[in-house]
This record gives sequence, C-alpha cells and structure tokens, in this order.
Amino acid sequence: MGRIDRRIADAVDTADLWKLARRRVPPIVTEYFRGGADAEITLRGNVRAFQQAVTTARGARSFPSLDLSTTCIGHRMDIPFFISPVGSLRALGPMADAVASRVAGEFNTVMTLSTLSGTPLEDVVAASRGDCWFQLYLCGGRETAARGIERARRAGFTALMLTIDTGVAGMRAMHARMKPMEVARPFRGLGPTERLRLALAKSKLAPQMLCRPTWLASHLRDGGLFDFENVLDIDGAPMPYADIGAQLEASVVTWEDLKWIREAWGEGPLIVKGVHDAEDARRAEDLGATGVVWSNHGGRQQDRVPPALHIVAREMPRLTDSRLDFMMDGGIRNGTDVLIALSHGLKAVGLGRVTAAGLGAGGHAGLTRAFEIVKSELERAMRLVGVGSIGEIHAAGPDLRRESLLAGDGHLPPIVF
Ligand SMILES: Cc1cc2nc3c(=O)[nH]c(=O)nc-3n(C[C@H](O)[C@H](O)[C@H](O)COP(=O)(O)O)c2cc1C
Repeated sequence: MGRIDRRIADAVDTADLWKLARRRVPPIVTEYFRGGADAEITLRGNVRAFQQAVTTARGARSFPSLDLSTTCIGHRMDIPFFISPVGSLRALGPMADAVASRVAGEFNTVMTLSTLSGTPLEDVVAASRGDCWFQLYLCGGRETAARGIERARRAGFTALMLTIDTGVAGMRAMHARMKPMEVARPFRGLGPTERLRLALAKSKLAPQMLCRPTWLASHLRDGGLFDFENVLDIDGAPMPYADIGAQLEASVVTWEDLKWIREAWGEGPLIVKGVHDAEDARRAEDLGATGVVWSNHGGRQQDRVPPALHIVAREMPRLTDSRLDFMMDGGIRNGTDVLIALSHGLKAVGLGRVTAAGLGAGGHAGLTRAFEIVKSELERAMRLVGVGSIGEIHAAGPDLRRESLLAGDGHLPPIVF
C-alpha cells in the first residue's frame, strides 16, 4: 500500500479526508468546493444544526444484522445516502464524475450528475452498476436543455433532478477573491497586453500547483481545464469553462418551465431540488414531481436562509398527506447526521462536500473510504440508538431525538469543512 493509500485507509472521519484533499489539491480548487455564499452563515448553520441535534440511546438490544436499504422514487438503494450533484468534480481528478459514479454503484446507491460537469454523461452511466440521476440546469437555454434531457434519457439516467435555487449565482466571496474565472479565461482572441496580463495572472498560481505534483500531473494527463461536456450547442460543441457565470445568469428556471421539462423527460421520476417550504413542495407535486430535495445548495446561494435540517424539521410535518418522496442535503458530515435527518421521515439524504472530500483525498480510494466511514458511523449509531432498519428510524421519528438543554455552542467541535 502506498503512502497516500495508507493515509486514506487511516482516515477516521470525513474531516480527515477533507484535510488530505487540501494537501493534495491546490487551494484555488479546494476553495471552490468548500466555500459558501457571502458571510457563510448558512454554510456553517447547516453543519451546526446537525452538531446541535441530539439523539436518545436505548441499550440492552442486540442486532445480529442491520438493514440500511431504502426505496426512494421507486429506486432501491442499499444505503440511505446518495451523491448530490456537484459541479466541476473533474477538477479534483481524472474523469472524477465517472469515478464517483463507480463508487456509488459499488455501494448500490445513486450518483447524481450535475449539468455543469466535465465528464461525458454516457461515461458516468457506464461506470455505475446502480441508478444514475441527471441534475438539470437550463444552461444554454431551452433548446440546449431539451437536447441534454434527451441525451441523458438515451444514456440510461433513471431520474431527472431539476434545481430551482439558482435564479442567480450566489456570491462565494472567498473564492471570488481568488479570481478563478479570470485565470480560467483562454488566451484566444486577446490582444498582446491582455495576453501578458492573463499569463501573469496564471503564473501566480504556479507555486500552489507545483507544490501539489500528484494532482498537477493527473490534471495535465486528464487534459487540464475541461469544458462542460454535458452542455452542447447545436453543433455539438461543449460549453467552455469560462462561460459558466454568464450561462448560469441566463438560465433561470420558473414553475412554467416545469411543465415542458416534465413532458420532455416523459414518465420517469422527476425530482425538484432546492425547495425551502411546503407550499413549493406542493406546487412541485402538482406539476408532476415525484420527489423533492430540501436543500439550500449547501449554503452557496442565499446566505441567511435556515440550515437545511431546520427546513426539514419545520416543513415535513406540514406534508403528511403528500405522496412525494422527500430527501435533503446540506451539512451532512457523518452517519449520525444521516440518522437524524432520516428520523424526520426522509427516504434518503445527499452528500455534496463529503463526495468532494473523498475524491479530493484520492479518487476512487478516497471516495470509497468516505462511503465506508459514513456507512459504519450510521450502523454504529443505529445499534446504539436501538433501531435495526430505516423503517424503524421512520417509525421512531421524534422519539429518537431529544432537545438539547446546553446553551451556546462552546461544547461543539470546530467546523472543518
Ligand atoms: C462545489 C459544489 C458544487 C455544486 N454544484 C451543484 C450543481 O451543479 N447543481 C446542483 O444542483 N447543486 C450543486 N451543489 C449543491 C449540492 O448538490 C448540495 O446541495 C450541497 O453540496 C449539499 O451540502 P453539503 O455540501 O453540505 O453536503 C454544489 C455544491 C458544491 C459544494
């Protein structure tokens, strides 16, 4: 076993993997994955809400085996967590979306591929033996999106996930200060002065890249900065990386769009992601959605919205008559977080930054370790709390949770990522 593999195997929690990722991958890349919007109040709130949530524990019970399986939007998963859509994963390693998909398949759970990804969607489906879902942004406009939907369906994606919380891109302040889009610009079409300026800006990144030779070598072998292979124009050309900001601004989705998207996708499951209240969940259901993901985009869009777990706690009791399948993401860093989230009646939960931490730490081995860690934490928590299956978590519901009587957050660990 090599030195890096040993470090991955030695990781005890997902924070250990994030620390490894930061050693392996340059800051301009890791900051993109870490960051949240504005003052990052919601980003921290997502994690804090889980840290502050308290469970009961019931002893004198033995579980010869546990059943972690769940069925969500008609898809069976062996574990109740899946990969949330995370754009630009390929910046972490070669064909990283396909690597993620392979790991998800090995755990018999779902990979959700972001529209803003650098790996051709056909390769992502081919890499997994499980279900893959395709997350949709309307980048490039309706015609481009419709072609993307058709391509995803033909490739074998089994659900479409429409993200509705990106009417405008959030201001990820820390990353913006690094001016990533300035250095992502191509030299093409620039005059001599501009070229020189860009070359200087790019050269400033050299030290952080050269200090991370493993990442740099694999990034260069993988073709360097990628295009968005899953947003093709009418001539089949992929959207250049540098166009991302302008394209997102021009790709606002409305409830009206849900009608044609439902039609274009056909009968298959349709999930709406980025929902914050029961009224919007009902609207999604009325327009033909099968599932909803409670999500504040990992604190990357509107800062100051409630932590994702608080959204779940407030809204789920208002939807007891709904036929939707509910999921959430935001702030989940360990298996007890998964247990607490599921106790609100969710079918499954999504992992965003934990996926990035695993891939960043070491591709397939790193993400596999991330999944192993969260799975074993969940199993341990289930045994200690006294539930043997996801059904039992749902049945126990609020009985599994306790109100914390500790004031303040002085007793809580620092937020690593
Ligand atoms: C770097 C990054 C990129 C993301 N890209 C997308 C995306 O392309 N589409 C989308 O719907 N959500 C995207 N998200 C949001 C995630 O799907 C998810 O909601 C969020 O990461 C959950 O929070 P967590 O990171 O605390 O798990 C992204 C999140 C991160 C961290």
